[in-house]
Amino acid sequence: MAETVKIIIDGKSIQAKAGLTILEAASEVGIYIPHLCYHKDLTPGGHCRVCTVKVNGKPINACTMIVGQGMVIENDTEQLNEMRKNIIEMLFVEGNHICPACEKSGNCELQALAYRFQMMGPGYPYLFPKKELDGKHPDFYIDRNRCVLCGRCVRSSREIDKKNVFGFEGRGINKRLTIDARHDLSETDLKAADKAASYCPTGSLMAKREGWKMPVGTRKFDKQPIGADIEGKRG
Ligand code: FES
Repeated sequence: MAETVKIIIDGKSIQAKAGLTILEAASEVGIYIPHLCYHKDLTPGGHCRVCTVKVNGKPINACTMIVGQGMVIENDTEQLNEMRKNIIEMLFVEGNHICPACEKSGNCELQALAYRFQMMGPGYPYLFPKKELDGKHPDFYIDRNRCVLCGRCVRSSREIDKKNVFGFEGRGINKRLTIDARHDLSETDLKAADKAASYCPTGSLMAKREGWKMPVGTRKFDKQPIGADIEGKRG
């Protein structure tokens, strides 16, 4: 297999390492492909579709598709960004995201994507679903109002913590995050040193006593928009 392949992203020719995904190859050269369920430390989940690009005219997940010789990729187009914005809007109405009252505000990837796509308000009716809180664990809580079902806790628990604390049940609008216990998080194997909560992109799975330690105004996305760290790598 060739060590590099030539791909074109938004008209820019790139020599990408063979075996990388489109998202990884783009990130290496400072091209930001918006994403939510993807995290560089974890196996891609392919859940959220925010990373959708067009490859030779066909929509495809950039986080799971491996680069191939001669691929012509569209990323930063009005059509794709509008589709991504629509996904973010749907995630907002499917949950109960009260950003001003959320400890993750300013560090939340969902909120940061909404800002990046200049979402003024969701273009869909709010569903105001009834969601459960689970606060009995001494070190962590789950607020399902803020869960976007990205699966990062599921994968990080398995791949980083070497446990299986989290999972999913149901499908479509009835899909929900489950835990490996009958009643609540305190009955699981989740320990204070586990990393799963640090992979949650929103304020859904949070460590207790950490929430407001970092002052508002100094948080990651208060300083620069999501994606700016990747775009800063551009030569
Ligand atoms: Fe690729 Fe979610 S980031 S599907």
